[in-house]
Amino acid sequence: MTYSIEIERSTAPKTKPQEDQLGFGKHFTDHMFVVDYETGKGWHAPRIVPYQGITLDPAAKIFHYGQSVFEGLKAYRAEDGRLLLFRPQDNFKRLNLSNERMHMPEIDADLAMAGLQELIRIDSGWIPSAPGTSLYIRPFVIATEPSLGVAPSAKYQFLIIMSPVGAYYAEGINPVKIYVESGYVRAVKGGVGTAKTAGNYASGLKAQEEAAKRGCAQVLWLDGVHRKYIEEVGSMNVFFYIDGKVVTPALSGSILDGITRRSVIALLKEWNIPVEERTISVDELFEAHERGALTEAFGSGTAAVISPIGALYSENGDIEIGGGKTGELAAKVYDTLTGIQYGRVADPFGWTY
Ligand code: COI
Repeated sequence: MTYSIEIERSTAPKTKPQEDQLGFGKHFTDHMFVVDYETGKGWHAPRIVPYQGITLDPAAKIFHYGQSVFEGLKAYRAEDGRLLLFRPQDNFKRLNLSNERMHMPEIDADLAMAGLQELIRIDSGWIPSAPGTSLYIRPFVIATEPSLGVAPSAKYQFLIIMSPVGAYYAEGINPVKIYVESGYVRAVKGGVGTAKTAGNYASGLKAQEEAAKRGCAQVLWLDGVHRKYIEEVGSMNVFFYIDGKVVTPALSGSILDGITRRSVIALLKEWNIPVEERTISVDELFEAHERGALTEAFGSGTAAVISPIGALYSENGDIEIGGGKTGELAAKVYDTLTGIQYGRVADPFGWTY
């Protein structure tokens, strides 16, 4: 199906930031994609307009009851000049799962893809080319109906904005220290942990701040009932290399179904490394460390791709993992995934678009 997307080009293109000073999510391209929704009318008026502020009524439901979902994906400039996306359809599929959970209307994934492609065509000059840089793409949906009744909004807006980014962590793929969080929890089964919704990130900020005071970059989230089983690390999925097998928490209903997580699992299987998706307790982890079986730990996500864990700090003592250095497996996964994303490495999975 072809879509008619109205295009209004910017008459005042911005000066692009220097590629060695991008940071993460601080600069935005010249245009954005917008679609409106109204009950009875459905999604309508898809358009690309100059990047600009949006005006909302102060009573818009997004400000009060948090109906808001988002995605994150990246566009890469390959050495041969191709512009590549990584598994974009998976992001729009997941956006709709988040929409469903937050009682928001499903977007038309084909329209979203068409809008994204057109937006990238128009702003392709914003995809940086320095090593490690990319264009971070943020699709999101917000509830815009001005009404304080606690009920699903009758109006929404779907937007895509884009930001040229450097590496997520200024220090690069270096191991980070992580605090095992036994007080705050991120999500519980039946809650909204599987949805990529704004509140999940807001609720993690206090724990992150307290972890930072302990010298840790992030927290290791435990399950909300027993405070025993590992769920995620910061805003990433988590993997442990124990006894030559990779263990990652199963998608039990409170964990985000990460697209990088899925890709890591597929790569490991391709390499004949056993992967177990199951519950794993902190006790099991510390016990594996005790007998020298825990060789590596790392987080996975779109923003950082792979983030090795060099140490875990906890109420019951601290452990160092892999001598505090980036392990061979984490490095191999990182190199292969980013190799596929930048088109340097053959993609046997058909992930690049
Ligand atoms: C990711 O790892 O891509 C995330 O979820 C972090 C993002 C919210 C910046």
